[in-house]
Amino acid sequence: MLHLNYSFVAFLITSLKIKLFVVQYIRNYGEDMKKEIIINSDNLMQELGEKIGRLCFPNTLITMEGDLGAGKTTMTKGIGKGLDIKRVINSPTFTIMKIYEGRLTLYHMDVYRIDENSGDDYLEEYFQNGGVCVIEWAGNIEGMIKDNHMKINILINKDNSRKVIIEGNNEYERIIDKL
Ligand SMILES: Nc1ncnc2c1ncn2[C@@H]1O[C@H](COP(=O)(O)OP(=O)(O)O)[C@@H](O)[C@H]1O
Ligand SMILES: [Mg+2]
Repeated sequence: MLHLNYSFVAFLITSLKIKLFVVQYIRNYGEDMKKEIIINSDNLMQELGEKIGRLCFPNTLITMEGDLGAGKTTMTKGIGKGLDIKRVINSPTFTIMKIYEGRLTLYHMDVYRIDENSGDDYLEEYFQNGGVCVIEWAGNIEGMIKDNHMKINILINKDNSRKVIIEGNNEYERIIDKL
């Protein structure tokens, strides 16, 4: 009788462990991989961008957030280098989008001046156009970005260094893992 009770308790513990494992698995499924990197100079920001650029694949979609002067364009210059783009990359604030040819075509957007109601829906056509799409101030057109993407958030620290938070899942985990 005592023996039976012991095995029953053992059975309960095992099934509880299995349940916990399943719950944990479901919770983690689809959760973004996240990395935080401290960057101390303009050059190191470009180097981080270059690494990302080298790991980009067709239809890469990167959204960027961060205050004016955080380093979004600086990082994009690096992404351009990683895509073997020879032209100098400058901020597309006034043109909304600039296109550069490289190993993959770079569609560099800055949507600071627009929002979802300003009639700029054509931008969506570039998100899955075989190239690499980098969108500065992506929060302004959040509703337009339905495809899976990598999120980059740049924060300015008190000492002027930058905290770069990079998040993504599925195909983007391979990039984030290597940074
Ligand atoms: N650690 C750093 N990373 C990136 N940029 C830096 C850093 N420290 C200083 N800077 C400077 O901050 C500015 C960032 O500008 P920019 O890349 O145009 O920002 P954004 O596109 O986010 O408005 C540049 O003048 C750059 O030289
Ligand atoms: Mg910019």
